[in-house]
Amino acid sequence: MKILAIETSCDDTGVALLDIKGGKVKIIADFVSSQTEIHSPFGGVVPNLAVRAHYKNLPILLEKVLGKINPKKIDLVATTNGPGLEPCLWAGVNIAKVLAKALDKPMVGVNHLEGHIAANWLGASLRNYQLPMANDQTNFKHSKLNKFGLDASKIQNSKLFPAVCLIVSGGHTQLVLMKNFGEYKILGQTRDDAAGEAFDKVAKLLNLGYPGGPQIALLAKKGDSSAFNLPRPMIGSNNYDFSFSGLKTAVLYLLEGMDSRFRGNDKKESGNDKITNDLCASFQQAAIDVLIAKTIKAAVEYKVKTIMLGGGVAANQELRKQMSMAIKKQLPIANYQLPILKYCADNAAMIGLAGYWKYQRSGGDKIENIIAKPNLNL
Ligand code: KG4
Ligand code: ZN
Repeated sequence: MKILAIETSCDDTGVALLDIKGGKVKIIADFVSSQTEIHSPFGGVVPNLAVRAHYKNLPILLEKVLGKINPKKIDLVATTNGPGLEPCLWAGVNIAKVLAKALDKPMVGVNHLEGHIAANWLGASLRNYQLPMANDQTNFKHSKLNKFGLDASKIQNSKLFPAVCLIVSGGHTQLVLMKNFGEYKILGQTRDDAAGEAFDKVAKLLNLGYPGGPQIALLAKKGDSSAFNLPRPMIGSNNYDFSFSGLKTAVLYLLEGMDSRFRGNDKKESGNDKITNDLCASFQQAAIDVLIAKTIKAAVEYKVKTIMLGGGVAANQELRKQMSMAIKKQLPIANYQLPILKYCADNAAMIGLAGYWKYQRSGGDKIENIIAKPNLNL
């Protein structure tokens, strides 16, 4: 099945073409046009600039992708319809509707967060697992895939689920229990800032530019993570919720208490670099400690067989490494699966795969009914 996928929920325009056969995903084309340069001077995403760039970039990327296939051979059009910035979502939804109608093909609106979960199956070892269509034909009425080994897939998938996925991005921080493909339960989420948002805000305090996550991660490598004693908000709370705004404020108070020349905005001062590096390392460690503690707690309570990550912050090498160490120590029999770096950030390939899952579950959506849903839940 060939799937044309579109992603425009925030500040990345993505268009991809997937071919899914025999439970294997082949990515024929995958383009992302990043808007970092546009938003960076503002220290965050400016919605009207983002939507303008989506409308400018979508036709360019679509032309590149459609050059790789006879459009009549496309079987499904998938587009993110939430959650995200509403005007940005509409850009992808509208173009996808026009395409699906013109090609007379089915279309699905895809939940961006299901996309971040699906990213674990793109080019990672999970690709060896049978994809959902063969698992339960009663639930996949649109599946034409009976030819795949049903029993084998059941055995493989029973080794995989239940799974827990920590979704950590600029807009979301959620711990999701995945009982099967398409069956999700949100165990907890942030009560204020998302994890990526906290990285971005702390980077802004330190004048490190936007997006802040990669920059903080880079400087943290040179810093001492125990230099500053920062809080680990809600680490011991009796639930799976998160809170990152207090951690960001703690960094702000530390900076306010320092001599102005140590505040990260005067790069020439000696001592400045070391303090900035130590602050980055200490902040990053505090965030990671909370993310790992909650994920492991959920994994133990729900006796999961697989632990996954998703979203832009999942590209953080320290998080990836320390989560692996924690799993080896506390849940040695669990699988640990990660999206490859390129698929942690927003992209359309993950939307194509999640769209495929949705199509197998419930068929195409009524095109007229597909609307942008900025607060769409899993
Ligand atoms: O998933 P994503 O590309 O977009 C959203 O759906 O939000 O995530 C972007 C977020 C930004 O906040 C960015 O600072 C953060 O992911 N990020 C990182 C790293 N790379 C990107 N945070 C920590 N460490 C990184 N290496
Ligand atoms: Zn995202």
